[in-house]
Amino acid sequence: TRYSEPYRPAFHFSPDHNWMNDPNGLLFYEGEYHLFYQYNPFGNKWGHMSWGHAVSNDLLHWEHLPVAIAEYIDKASGDSTMIFSGSAVADVNNTSGFFPKDSGGIVAIYTSHIHKNNQQLTQHQSIAYSADRGRAFTRYENNPVLDKKLKDFRDPKVFWYAPEKKWVMSVVIPDKFKAQFYTSKNLKEWTLLSEFGPLGDTAKIWECPDLVEVPLLDDSSKKKWVLFISNSHPQGPTYVGMQYFVGNFDGKKFTPENPTQYPLYLEYGKDFYAAVTFNNIPQKDGRTILLGWANNWAYGQDIPTSSWRSAMTLPREVYLKNTPQGYRIVQKPVKEIVALREDSVHYTPPGKVFPGKAFEAEYVYTSGTAAKFGLKIITGEDEQTIIGYDKKKEEVFLDRTKSGNVAFHQTFPSVERAPAKLQNGKLKLHVFVDNSIIEVFINDGENVITDQIFPSSAEYSLEQFKEGGEAVTNLRVWKIKSVWL
Ligand code: FRU
Repeated sequence: TRYSEPYRPAFHFSPDHNWMNDPNGLLFYEGEYHLFYQYNPFGNKWGHMSWGHAVSNDLLHWEHLPVAIAEYIDKASGDSTMIFSGSAVADVNNTSGFFPKDSGGIVAIYTSHIHKNNQQLTQHQSIAYSADRGRAFTRYENNPVLDKKLKDFRDPKVFWYAPEKKWVMSVVIPDKFKAQFYTSKNLKEWTLLSEFGPLGDTAKIWECPDLVEVPLLDDSSKKKWVLFISNSHPQGPTYVGMQYFVGNFDGKKFTPENPTQYPLYLEYGKDFYAAVTFNNIPQKDGRTILLGWANNWAYGQDIPTSSWRSAMTLPREVYLKNTPQGYRIVQKPVKEIVALREDSVHYTPPGKVFPGKAFEAEYVYTSGTAAKFGLKIITGEDEQTIIGYDKKKEEVFLDRTKSGNVAFHQTFPSVERAPAKLQNGKLKLHVFVDNSIIEVFINDGENVITDQIFPSSAEYSLEQFKEGGEAVTNLRVWKIKSVWL
């Protein structure tokens, strides 16, 4: 069957072949979700960066389309322009003038990365437009549209700011730990509004900013502004990770609440980066939907998959939960995912369950004296991935040090740790296992761990475990259908 290669995810997006990194241009437009992505059309490692493309009606079943915007070589200078990360907007009112009278289309805003002989020369922002629902793009003849003569200046995320009927762009100066906000009426001329940063985590350069309104968990008619930044991991700068800021945007300036509370991390897994949100989700839906790259720059180009490399996380709904410490992001897999469930698999402790390699598990701990408890995904002789809770440390951990092939890179074997308190004595883990990808939503998405594993065996079994006492738990498991069949 299609996509039955070792490690190929069954219900996460991966490119048909070749290298992929960041999601780009996430957009809902005329009934379709668009996923563009950083793509190398010529190989299984980073290079020749172009925008790959896929579309979906439900955020889960994707149709692969041809490369949307390709790297190109300037004939006169011989310089190459790679198409780095960026966003796409629905220009329904034809503010750009790119489209025939009384019609609109998609405009992509990306970083044009100029290089020569593998030497990075400059980065500026450029645009391209499509009048046929993203199938064909034309590069604007007067590109770039925003040039500060900087070597590092990238990842424009543009959205429509309805109160003032204008476009707003977030973009970063990575090595200065700064986001900048620009505005435009026509997507062609841009004026600086304000700057933000450095603040929070500055252990690694800042990339892929996204300034977006996020609904409150208790009342989704109310929203606050959140600025997402890709930079460093909570366990230190060996790995990339993401932080976020919560506050207000007045059309000009983003002001974070309680500036002393940062950094706040979006994820505790090692395989989560460059996540951004979909533009133009219909008002009546009202969700803010985030999608991330499920890989890590530390070892990502060496993962033992072929002929593709990298997948995306599940699309996630994000909300803000009011806590005594302040507003915090919670993440949930999109509700559409429930449609992929097959029959639930019966489980009787202390036995094993054999759910295949694509499944979902809901694990609830209600009480007990055990010091550690949780789930083991057993994939071979002395080979397992442990997802557990350490009561004393008050953290959920994911241990992949014996998860299979961990030797392909020295930074790969690792234990991730996410803070988690028992709530009325309870712990909830909502776990998605998809061949080589694991996503663990802790306590209804208060924290998340996304990690890759590369087991040696074709059979996975699942078992509960406890150490140093008793644990009263409940486990439900569902097999999940492949979205590629
Ligand atoms: C983030 C990133 C972006 C850049 C792209 C290049 O992973 O480094 O800053 O635009 O990847 O592929």
